[in-house]
Amino acid sequence: MSVYLKNILKHKALNGWGLFALISLPMSAFIIAEILRTNLSTGEGLSHMIGYSVRWAVPFIYLVIAASSVRILFPGPFSTWWLKNRKYIGLCFAAGMAWQGLFIFIISTFTRDYYFNEIYLFRDELEGTIGYLFLVAMVVTSFHFGRKHINSEQWKLIQKSGVYFLWAYPFSVYWWNLFYYPTLDGAEVPRLLDYVFYWAGFAAFAVRIAAWGKQRHMKSSSAGAAISPVVKLLGGALILAGLVASATGKTWREPVSGLFTAPDFSEEMVNWLPFWPLEPFLPLLVIGLGTFVFTHYGAENEQVSANI
Ligand code: HEM
Repeated sequence: MSVYLKNILKHKALNGWGLFALISLPMSAFIIAEILRTNLSTGEGLSHMIGYSVRWAVPFIYLVIAASSVRILFPGPFSTWWLKNRKYIGLCFAAGMAWQGLFIFIISTFTRDYYFNEIYLFRDELEGTIGYLFLVAMVVTSFHFGRKHINSEQWKLIQKSGVYFLWAYPFSVYWWNLFYYPTLDGAEVPRLLDYVFYWAGFAAFAVRIAAWGKQRHMKSSSAGAAISPVVKLLGGALILAGLVASATGKTWREPVSGLFTAPDFSEEMVNWLPFWPLEPFLPLLVIGLGTFVFTHYGAENEQVSANI
Protein backbone atom coordinates (compact mmCIF):
# COMPACT_ATOMS: atom_id res chain seq x y z
CA MET A 1 0.00 0.00 0.00
CA SER A 2 1.36 3.38 -0.97
CA VAL A 3 2.48 5.98 1.53
CA TYR A 4 -0.13 8.25 0.00
CA LEU A 5 -2.95 5.87 0.97
CA LYS A 6 -1.49 5.39 4.46
CA ASN A 7 -1.59 9.15 4.95
CA ILE A 8 -5.16 9.34 3.69
CA LEU A 9 -6.21 6.71 6.24
CA LYS A 10 -4.76 8.87 8.99
CA HIS A 11 -6.86 11.90 8.02
CA LYS A 12 -9.15 13.20 10.76
CA ALA A 13 -12.18 13.04 8.50
CA LEU A 14 -11.66 9.27 8.04
CA ASN A 15 -11.28 8.44 11.71
CA GLY A 16 -13.41 8.49 14.84
CA TRP A 17 -16.21 11.05 14.92
CA GLY A 18 -15.03 12.46 11.59
CA LEU A 19 -15.77 9.11 9.95
CA PHE A 20 -19.09 8.84 11.77
CA ALA A 21 -20.14 12.28 10.47
CA LEU A 22 -18.86 11.50 6.98
CA ILE A 23 -21.14 8.46 6.77
CA SER A 24 -24.14 9.22 8.96
CA LEU A 25 -24.84 12.75 7.67
CA PRO A 26 -25.21 11.76 3.98
CA MET A 27 -27.09 8.64 5.12
CA SER A 28 -29.56 10.82 7.03
CA ALA A 29 -29.81 13.24 4.08
CA PHE A 30 -30.78 10.35 1.77
CA ILE A 31 -33.34 9.12 4.30
CA ILE A 32 -34.82 12.62 4.66
CA ALA A 33 -34.98 12.95 0.86
CA GLU A 34 -36.84 9.61 0.73
CA ILE A 35 -39.24 10.83 3.46
CA LEU A 36 -40.08 13.84 1.27
CA ARG A 37 -41.00 11.49 -1.58
CA THR A 38 -43.06 9.17 0.62
CA ASN A 39 -46.57 9.47 2.03
CA LEU A 40 -45.94 8.98 5.73
CA SER A 41 -49.63 9.11 6.61
CA THR A 42 -50.12 5.58 5.28
CA GLY A 43 -48.94 2.27 6.67
CA GLU A 44 -47.49 1.37 3.27
CA GLY A 45 -45.41 4.56 3.19
CA LEU A 46 -44.10 4.02 6.70
CA SER A 47 -43.34 0.40 5.97
CA HIS A 48 -41.38 1.49 2.92
CA MET A 49 -39.35 3.86 5.11
CA ILE A 50 -38.66 1.04 7.59
CA GLY A 51 -37.17 -1.03 4.79
CA TYR A 52 -35.37 1.91 3.20
CA SER A 53 -33.64 3.03 6.39
CA VAL A 54 -32.59 -0.44 7.50
CA ARG A 55 -30.97 -1.04 4.11
CA TRP A 56 -28.69 1.89 4.90
CA ALA A 57 -27.79 0.40 8.27
CA VAL A 58 -27.14 -3.25 7.35
CA PRO A 59 -23.78 -2.87 5.50
CA PHE A 60 -22.28 -1.34 8.63
CA ILE A 61 -23.08 -4.26 10.92
CA TYR A 62 -21.46 -6.51 8.32
CA LEU A 63 -18.36 -4.30 8.38
CA VAL A 64 -18.32 -4.44 12.18
CA ILE A 65 -18.53 -8.23 12.42
CA ALA A 66 -15.79 -8.72 9.82
CA ALA A 67 -13.36 -6.10 11.18
CA SER A 68 -11.18 -8.14 13.56
CA SER A 69 -11.04 -11.13 11.20
CA VAL A 70 -9.99 -9.11 8.18
CA ARG A 71 -7.17 -7.73 10.35
CA ILE A 72 -6.07 -11.31 11.15
CA LEU A 73 -6.35 -12.53 7.56
CA PHE A 74 -4.86 -9.46 5.87
CA PRO A 75 -2.74 -7.53 8.34
CA GLY A 76 -1.88 -4.07 7.01
CA PRO A 77 -2.73 -0.37 7.24
CA PHE A 78 -6.20 -0.70 5.71
CA SER A 79 -7.38 -3.54 7.96
CA THR A 80 -5.80 -1.79 10.96
CA TRP A 81 -7.71 1.39 10.10
CA TRP A 82 -10.91 -0.65 9.67
CA LEU A 83 -10.51 -2.34 13.06
CA LYS A 84 -9.51 0.88 14.81
CA ASN A 85 -12.69 2.55 13.60
CA ARG A 86 -14.98 -0.39 14.31
CA LYS A 87 -16.78 1.47 17.09
CA TYR A 88 -17.63 4.41 14.81
CA ILE A 89 -18.71 2.09 12.00
CA GLY A 90 -20.98 0.44 14.57
CA LEU A 91 -22.37 3.84 15.49
CA CYS A 92 -23.20 4.43 11.80
CA PHE A 93 -25.22 1.20 11.94
CA ALA A 94 -26.93 2.53 15.07
CA ALA A 95 -27.74 5.81 13.28
CA GLY A 96 -29.49 3.93 10.45
CA MET A 97 -31.29 1.75 12.99
CA ALA A 98 -32.41 4.85 14.91
CA TRP A 99 -34.19 6.01 11.76
CA GLN A 100 -35.77 2.56 11.40
CA GLY A 101 -36.76 2.69 15.08
CA LEU A 102 -38.42 6.05 14.54
CA PHE A 103 -40.52 4.72 11.64
CA ILE A 104 -41.40 1.60 13.65
CA PHE A 105 -42.54 3.84 16.51
CA ILE A 106 -44.67 5.98 14.16
CA ILE A 107 -46.24 3.01 12.34
CA SER A 108 -47.07 1.15 15.56
CA THR A 109 -48.47 4.27 17.25
CA PHE A 110 -50.33 6.11 14.51
CA THR A 111 -51.34 3.37 12.06
CA ARG A 112 -52.11 0.67 14.59
CA ASP A 113 -54.60 -1.18 12.38
CA TYR A 114 -52.06 -1.50 9.58
CA TYR A 115 -49.36 -2.48 12.03
CA PHE A 116 -51.34 -5.25 13.68
CA ASN A 117 -52.94 -6.52 10.46
CA GLU A 118 -49.95 -6.38 8.13
CA ILE A 119 -46.79 -6.47 10.20
CA TYR A 120 -47.18 -7.76 13.72
CA LEU A 121 -46.08 -11.33 14.29
CA PHE A 122 -45.06 -12.32 17.80
CA ARG A 123 -41.90 -14.13 16.70
CA ASP A 124 -40.72 -11.19 14.54
CA GLU A 125 -41.61 -8.72 17.29
CA LEU A 126 -39.54 -10.72 19.75
CA GLU A 127 -36.52 -10.85 17.44
CA GLY A 128 -36.81 -7.17 16.58
CA THR A 129 -37.17 -6.10 20.20
CA ILE A 130 -34.19 -8.20 21.29
CA GLY A 131 -32.24 -6.62 18.44
CA TYR A 132 -33.07 -3.11 19.62
CA LEU A 133 -32.28 -3.97 23.25
CA PHE A 134 -28.85 -5.22 22.17
CA LEU A 135 -28.34 -2.14 20.05
CA VAL A 136 -29.10 0.24 22.91
CA ALA A 137 -26.92 -1.73 25.34
CA MET A 138 -24.04 -1.78 22.84
CA VAL A 139 -24.24 1.95 22.15
CA VAL A 140 -24.50 2.90 25.83
CA THR A 141 -21.58 0.69 26.82
CA SER A 142 -19.46 2.05 23.96
CA PHE A 143 -18.99 5.22 25.99
CA HIS A 144 -17.28 5.76 29.29
CA PHE A 145 -20.48 6.73 31.12
CA GLY A 146 -22.05 3.35 30.29
CA ARG A 147 -18.94 1.23 30.36
CA LYS A 148 -17.90 2.25 33.86
CA HIS A 149 -20.90 0.38 35.34
CA ILE A 150 -19.79 -3.02 34.01
CA ASN A 151 -16.60 -5.07 34.05
CA SER A 152 -14.66 -6.07 30.96
CA GLU A 153 -16.19 -9.57 30.83
CA GLN A 154 -19.71 -8.13 30.85
CA TRP A 155 -18.70 -5.57 28.22
CA LYS A 156 -17.36 -8.29 25.95
CA LEU A 157 -20.49 -10.38 26.44
CA ILE A 158 -22.79 -7.50 25.49
CA GLN A 159 -20.75 -6.41 22.48
CA LYS A 160 -20.10 -9.90 21.12
CA SER A 161 -23.61 -11.29 21.54
CA GLY A 162 -25.08 -8.02 20.25
CA VAL A 163 -22.94 -8.03 17.12
CA TYR A 164 -23.78 -11.68 16.41
CA PHE A 165 -27.50 -11.11 16.95
CA LEU A 166 -27.61 -7.95 14.84
CA TRP A 167 -25.68 -9.63 12.04
CA ALA A 168 -27.93 -12.71 12.24
CA TYR A 169 -31.12 -10.68 11.87
CA PRO A 170 -30.57 -9.12 8.43
CA PHE A 171 -28.56 -12.12 7.19
CA SER A 172 -31.53 -14.38 7.90
CA VAL A 173 -34.02 -11.87 6.41
CA TYR A 174 -32.16 -12.00 3.10
CA TRP A 175 -31.70 -15.77 3.29
CA TRP A 176 -35.49 -16.19 3.54
CA ASN A 177 -35.96 -13.71 0.68
CA LEU A 178 -33.64 -15.79 -1.48
CA PHE A 179 -34.75 -19.28 -0.60
CA TYR A 180 -38.34 -19.08 0.58
CA TYR A 181 -40.58 -16.12 -0.33
CA PRO A 182 -41.81 -16.05 -3.93
CA THR A 183 -43.15 -12.49 -3.41
CA LEU A 184 -42.87 -9.89 -0.67
CA ASP A 185 -45.35 -7.04 -0.27
CA GLY A 186 -46.62 -7.72 -3.78
CA ALA A 187 -43.16 -7.44 -5.35
CA GLU A 188 -41.16 -10.37 -6.62
CA VAL A 189 -38.23 -11.62 -4.62
CA PRO A 190 -35.37 -12.26 -4.75
CA ARG A 191 -34.35 -8.78 -5.80
CA LEU A 192 -30.75 -8.03 -6.76
CA LEU A 193 -30.48 -6.39 -3.36
CA ASP A 194 -31.42 -9.64 -1.60
CA TYR A 195 -28.52 -11.40 -3.30
CA VAL A 196 -26.07 -8.62 -2.49
CA PHE A 197 -27.06 -8.38 1.17
CA TYR A 198 -27.22 -12.14 1.65
CA TRP A 199 -23.79 -12.78 0.16
CA ALA A 200 -22.26 -9.78 1.93
CA GLY A 201 -23.60 -11.11 5.25
CA PHE A 202 -22.31 -14.56 4.38
CA ALA A 203 -18.85 -13.21 3.52
CA ALA A 204 -18.75 -11.16 6.73
CA PHE A 205 -19.22 -14.32 8.80
CA ALA A 206 -17.13 -16.57 6.56
CA VAL A 207 -14.08 -14.37 7.14
CA ARG A 208 -14.57 -14.90 10.88
CA ILE A 209 -14.43 -18.65 10.37
CA ALA A 210 -11.39 -18.28 8.11
CA ALA A 211 -9.58 -16.09 10.66
CA TRP A 212 -10.34 -18.58 13.41
CA GLY A 213 -9.02 -21.38 11.20
CA LYS A 214 -5.89 -19.39 10.39
CA GLN A 215 -5.18 -18.85 14.09
CA ARG A 216 -5.71 -22.53 14.90
CA HIS A 217 -3.44 -23.50 12.04
CA MET A 218 -0.68 -21.05 13.03
CA LYS A 219 -0.76 -22.06 16.66
CA SER A 220 -0.45 -25.75 15.87
CA SER A 221 2.09 -25.50 13.08
CA SER A 222 4.33 -23.31 15.26
CA ALA A 223 4.14 -26.08 17.88
CA GLY A 224 5.39 -28.47 15.17
CA ALA A 225 2.21 -30.55 15.04
CA ALA A 226 1.26 -32.45 11.87
CA ILE A 227 -2.14 -33.22 10.47
CA SER A 228 -3.26 -36.36 8.69
CA PRO A 229 -4.25 -35.97 5.00
CA VAL A 230 -7.45 -37.93 5.66
CA VAL A 231 -8.54 -35.43 8.30
CA LYS A 232 -7.67 -32.58 5.95
CA LEU A 233 -9.71 -34.18 3.17
CA LEU A 234 -12.68 -34.61 5.48
CA GLY A 235 -12.40 -30.98 6.65
CA GLY A 236 -12.15 -29.76 3.06
CA ALA A 237 -15.16 -31.85 2.03
CA LEU A 238 -17.22 -30.36 4.86
CA ILE A 239 -16.21 -26.82 3.90
CA LEU A 240 -17.17 -27.52 0.28
CA ALA A 241 -20.51 -29.01 1.37
CA GLY A 242 -21.20 -25.90 3.48
CA LEU A 243 -20.40 -23.64 0.54
CA VAL A 244 -22.70 -25.60 -1.76
CA ALA A 245 -25.46 -25.57 0.88
CA SER A 246 -25.12 -21.81 1.32
CA ALA A 247 -26.04 -21.30 -2.36
CA THR A 248 -28.74 -23.94 -2.64
CA GLY A 249 -31.09 -23.28 0.27
CA LYS A 250 -34.13 -23.72 -1.96
CA THR A 251 -33.35 -27.40 -2.52
CA TRP A 252 -32.85 -28.43 1.10
CA ARG A 253 -34.86 -25.90 3.14
CA GLU A 254 -38.16 -27.76 3.18
CA PRO A 255 -36.95 -31.24 4.22
CA VAL A 256 -34.46 -29.80 6.72
CA SER A 257 -37.06 -27.49 8.31
CA GLY A 258 -39.44 -30.45 8.48
CA LEU A 259 -36.82 -32.64 10.11
CA PHE A 260 -35.77 -30.04 12.66
CA THR A 261 -39.30 -29.16 13.67
CA ALA A 262 -40.58 -32.74 13.76
CA PRO A 263 -40.51 -33.05 17.58
CA ASP A 264 -43.41 -31.12 19.19
CA PHE A 265 -41.12 -29.11 21.49
CA SER A 266 -39.07 -27.94 18.49
CA GLU A 267 -42.15 -26.88 16.54
CA GLU A 268 -43.29 -24.93 19.60
CA MET A 269 -39.89 -23.23 19.87
CA VAL A 270 -40.36 -21.76 16.37
CA ASN A 271 -42.89 -19.36 17.93
CA TRP A 272 -40.62 -17.82 20.51
CA LEU A 273 -36.97 -18.75 20.06
CA PRO A 274 -35.29 -16.25 17.72
CA PHE A 275 -34.21 -17.74 14.36
CA TRP A 276 -35.20 -21.32 15.34
CA PRO A 277 -34.57 -23.85 13.72
CA LEU A 278 -31.63 -21.85 12.36
CA GLU A 279 -31.89 -22.84 8.67
CA PRO A 280 -29.96 -19.79 7.33
CA PHE A 281 -27.04 -20.55 9.62
CA LEU A 282 -26.67 -24.28 8.97
CA PRO A 283 -24.28 -23.93 5.99
CA LEU A 284 -22.02 -21.67 8.04
CA LEU A 285 -22.13 -24.19 10.86
CA VAL A 286 -20.99 -26.91 8.45
CA ILE A 287 -18.21 -24.64 7.14
CA GLY A 288 -17.17 -23.94 10.76
CA LEU A 289 -17.14 -27.67 11.50
CA GLY A 290 -15.09 -28.28 8.36
CA THR A 291 -12.61 -25.61 9.42
CA PHE A 292 -12.37 -27.20 12.85
CA VAL A 293 -11.61 -30.60 11.32
CA PHE A 294 -9.27 -29.14 8.70
CA THR A 295 -7.15 -27.48 11.40
CA HIS A 296 -7.52 -30.19 14.02
CA TYR A 297 -4.02 -30.97 15.20
CA GLY A 298 -4.78 -31.55 18.84
CA ALA A 299 -6.33 -30.27 22.05
CA GLU A 300 -3.85 -27.37 22.36
CA ASN A 301 -5.85 -25.38 19.78
CA GLU A 302 -9.00 -24.89 21.75
CA GLN A 303 -8.68 -21.31 23.06
CA VAL A 304 -7.91 -19.39 19.87
CA SER A 305 -11.39 -18.13 19.09
CA ALA A 306 -11.27 -15.80 22.11
CA ASN A 307 -9.20 -13.27 20.13
CA ILE A 308 -11.53 -12.83 17.14
C1 HEM B 1 -39.69 -4.63 16.68
C2 HEM B 1 -38.73 -4.29 15.85
C3 HEM B 1 -38.87 -4.36 14.35
C4 HEM B 1 -39.99 -4.20 13.55
C5 HEM B 1 -41.43 -3.96 13.97
C6 HEM B 1 -39.54 -4.31 12.18
C7 HEM B 1 -40.37 -4.19 11.08
C8 HEM B 1 -39.98 -4.32 9.77
C9 HEM B 1 -40.84 -4.16 8.61
C10 HEM B 1 -42.30 -3.75 8.62
C11 HEM B 1 -40.10 -4.41 7.50
C12 HEM B 1 -40.59 -4.41 6.05
C13 HEM B 1 -40.28 -3.09 5.40
C14 HEM B 1 -40.72 -3.04 3.94
O1 HEM B 1 -41.90 -2.93 3.68
O2 HEM B 1 -39.83 -3.12 3.07
C15 HEM B 1 -38.76 -4.73 7.96
C16 HEM B 1 -37.73 -5.05 7.13
C17 HEM B 1 -36.46 -5.33 7.57
N1 HEM B 1 -35.98 -5.25 8.86
FE1 HEM B 1 -37.06 -4.87 10.51
N2 HEM B 1 -38.18 -4.54 12.17
C18 HEM B 1 -37.73 -4.56 13.46
C19 HEM B 1 -36.43 -4.73 13.89
C20 HEM B 1 -35.36 -4.99 13.06
C21 HEM B 1 -34.00 -5.21 13.50
C22 HEM B 1 -33.48 -5.17 14.94
C23 HEM B 1 -33.26 -5.46 12.40
C24 HEM B 1 -31.78 -5.75 12.40
C25 HEM B 1 -30.94 -5.20 11.59
C26 HEM B 1 -34.15 -5.39 11.24
C27 HEM B 1 -33.79 -5.63 9.93
C28 HEM B 1 -34.67 -5.60 8.86
C29 HEM B 1 -34.26 -5.90 7.49
C30 HEM B 1 -32.88 -6.33 7.03
C31 HEM B 1 -35.38 -5.72 6.67
C32 HEM B 1 -35.48 -5.94 5.15
C33 HEM B 1 -35.29 -4.63 4.45
C34 HEM B 1 -35.35 -4.81 2.93
O3 HEM B 1 -36.45 -4.79 2.39
O4 HEM B 1 -34.29 -4.96 2.32
N3 HEM B 1 -35.39 -5.10 11.69
N4 HEM B 1 -38.72 -4.65 9.32
